[in-house]
Amino acid sequence: MKILLTGGTGYIGSHAAVRLIELGYEVEILDNLNNSKIEVLDKIEKITGVRPTFHQVDLMDYKATQRVFSEGGFDLVIHFAGLKAVGESVEKPLLYYENNIGGTINLLKCMREFGVKKIIFSSSATVYGDTGETEFTEEMPTGVKIVNPYGKTKFMIEEILRDVATADGDLEVVILRYFNPIGAHESGLLGEDPNGIPNNLMPIVMRVSTGEIEELKIYGNDYDTVDGTGVRDYIHVMDLVDGHIAAIKKMQPGVAIYNLGTGRGTSVLEMVAAFEKVSGQKLPYKIVERREGDLGEVIANPDKAERELDWEAKRTVEDAMRDVLGYLKGN
Ligand code: WQD
Repeated sequence: MKILLTGGTGYIGSHAAVRLIELGYEVEILDNLNNSKIEVLDKIEKITGVRPTFHQVDLMDYKATQRVFSEGGFDLVIHFAGLKAVGESVEKPLLYYENNIGGTINLLKCMREFGVKKIIFSSSATVYGDTGETEFTEEMPTGVKIVNPYGKTKFMIEEILRDVATADGDLEVVILRYFNPIGAHESGLLGEDPNGIPNNLMPIVMRVSTGEIEELKIYGNDYDTVDGTGVRDYIHVMDLVDGHIAAIKKMQPGVAIYNLGTGRGTSVLEMVAAFEKVSGQKLPYKIVERREGDLGEVIANPDKAERELDWEAKRTVEDAMRDVLGYLKGN
C-alpha cells in the first residue's frame, strides 16, 4: 500500500512515517516545512534505513499538489498538514481558514482527480467545543461554542469530509480526534519541535527545562479539577500512531470517527510532578491567570476505538516524559 502523508515532517506525521515504513508500507511525504525541519527526513532514514520521497509542497499550491498525485499512485492519504497554533488562529483567522480548509479542499480535489479513495484525517478534541462536558464520546455534538478558528477549521473539515463521502459513495474516511499528544520516539531522534514559540504544554516544559524559557506559567488553578489546574488526556505520540495503523486495517466506504486518547486525565501540576520525577530536575513555575478559551477538564472516552479498532493506548505520561527527555538529550 502506498501512502501519502501530508504534514509528514511534522510532530505526529514524522512518527507515523517511521512506524509505517517499519511495517512495510511505502510512504511519501508532502510538507511545506512551515512548522517542521527538512532534517527530520535524515532522522526517519536513520531510524528506518529508508528515506521517504519528499515533496516540499504547500497544499495551497494546487498545481504542485496535482503534480505529486499525478506521479504518486497513492492508495491512501493521511492528512496531518495544517496550522495548529490556537492563539495565532485567533489573531489570523483568514490565514487559518485559507490554509487549513483551502488546503484540504485542494487535497480532496486531487484525490478525486487521481482516484485516491481513502483518507485518514487528523482532527482534534477541540471540535467538541465547550458543552460543559468533561469526558467525550464520538456521538456527542461538535461545533458547539468552539472558541478559536483553529478548532473551527477542524470542525469544518470534518463536515466537508462527511459531505464529500456522501456525494462520492466509495470514499473511505476515518476521522481521528486527537486529545493531547505528547512524548517522542524511543530513539531520541524524533520529537515535538515546533518552529517559533510553542503553545502546547510539553514543548514549553521542555524549553523551561533547558533554560530557554525562564519558568512555566500555569494558566489558572481555580478550575473545578483535582488541584485546580487544567486537566487533559495526554496520549503518547506512538500510541496515537498505532491508532492510525489500526484505522488503516479497518477502512471501509463512509465516515468513521474515533477519539484517540487514554481515558485518563492529568493536571498541569501532575505533569510538572511527573517531569520532575523522571528528570530529577526542579521545574520553575508560576500560577498566572487563566488562558482565554481554555476548558478545565477535557478527557477522551476511547471505548469506541478500543471496540472497533482493537486499539488502546498502552504508554503512560511518565513513559512520555522519559521519551521527551531522551529527545532533549538526543538533539
Ligand atoms: C494543556 C494544558 C493549559 C501551556 C490544544 C488544542 C488541541 C491540540 C492540543 C493540536 C491546559 C495548560 C499550557 C502553558 C499551561 N492542538 N498550559 N501553561 O489547550 O488542551 O489543546 O493543544 O492538535 O487541538 O486545542 O493543549 O498543551 O495548550 O494545554 O498551564 O504554558 O496545559 O491551560 O490546561 P490544549 P495545551
